[in-house]
Amino acid sequence: MEGYRRKVAICGSQGLGRYIARAILDTGEWDLVILSRNPQPELTANGITVRAVDYSSVEAIAHVLRRQQVDTVISVIPDAEVQLNIIDACLVARVQRFVPAEFETSPDLRPLYDPSDKTTVWVRLNEVRTHLESTVFSCGLFMEYFAPGGWRACGSYGWNDGTFLLDIERKRAKFPVQLADRPDLNAVVCLTSAADVARFVAASLFLRSWPTEMKMFGDRLRLDQLLDVAQYVRARDFKLKVIPEDEIEFQIQRTADWKAQRELQTMRSILASEYDIGHRDLNAMFPDIRPTSFKNFLRQYW
Ligand SMILES: NC(=O)c1ccc[n+]([C@@H]2O[C@H](COP(=O)([O-])OP(=O)(O)OC[C@H]3O[C@@H](n4cnc5c(N)ncnc54)[C@H](OP(=O)(O)O)[C@@H]3O)[C@@H](O)[C@H]2O)c1
Repeated sequence: MEGYRRKVAICGSQGLGRYIARAILDTGEWDLVILSRNPQPELTANGITVRAVDYSSVEAIAHVLRRQQVDTVISVIPDAEVQLNIIDACLVARVQRFVPAEFETSPDLRPLYDPSDKTTVWVRLNEVRTHLESTVFSCGLFMEYFAPGGWRACGSYGWNDGTFLLDIERKRAKFPVQLADRPDLNAVVCLTSAADVARFVAASLFLRSWPTEMKMFGDRLRLDQLLDVAQYVRARDFKLKVIPEDEIEFQIQRTADWKAQRELQTMRSILASEYDIGHRDLNAMFPDIRPTSFKNFLRQYW
């Protein structure tokens, strides 16, 4: 790998931000600063530079980026308004590269008229591409969704508590299907552990130029295979429930519960093949990074 020492800022100190920080520090090649809404004494005590920022002020963000001489900004903040301010600050501070808080499905596979935060940020990045290089990392579902306590137990503020699709603790599965009378579990999901996502992100910092998207995954499974792996690891049959597409749509309109909404929307995206990432170009580019399989991931915990 070709390398030259530069500075990376990660916006967001917890959740995926922690994994990426660890992976970048493990390379020993980059200076790192973490931007956070609050001081992070635990990180500072571990020798990591943290700067508290007011994300509502473009000038305040730009000031920190300029002072820290940041070359690359990685955002893990799932909020469009905040990310648009960070992008504007990157332009003011002449930051070279930006990674938006994607790390999930491929933008190309999202619906054409998608009002999500991610698409809003993606559109803005396309507008400013001549001044700010950017890439989206696509990785499918985090395997940590299936660890005890789910992704929230890994430090995220997100919705996943380890009961989505598979409730491995209680040996239950709830899967989306197209039709109630033909409940085929043939939708495909790609999965990558957050630790492997972070390793690929850290390796990508060494690339001299970035394509607009970089794809990776640790495993690619149909839902019936996902269930088989979980049942194998737990050595028990799971109680299976299916939820047909029309019922998912109906419930999305009806429920006001945030977590239920996110679960249903993710199921809808799975049925629309949005979690089937396609060609894993990052795995091919960095063959020394051997991402964990779903079976080995589950074996670590269960
Ligand atoms: N592929 C998957 O299955 C999957 C699953 C979950 C998430 N993701 C993706 O991974 C990325 C990170 O997710 P995450 O769960 O780690 O995120 P998160 O826990 O919700 O937020 C990460 C960090 O961002 C900062 N933050 C959060 N909300 C903010 C706000 N409104 N304003 C300013 N800062 C805010 C916080 O840092 P400070 O407290 O230090 O400010 C927080 O620790 C996102 O792009 C998300 O889409 C993917």
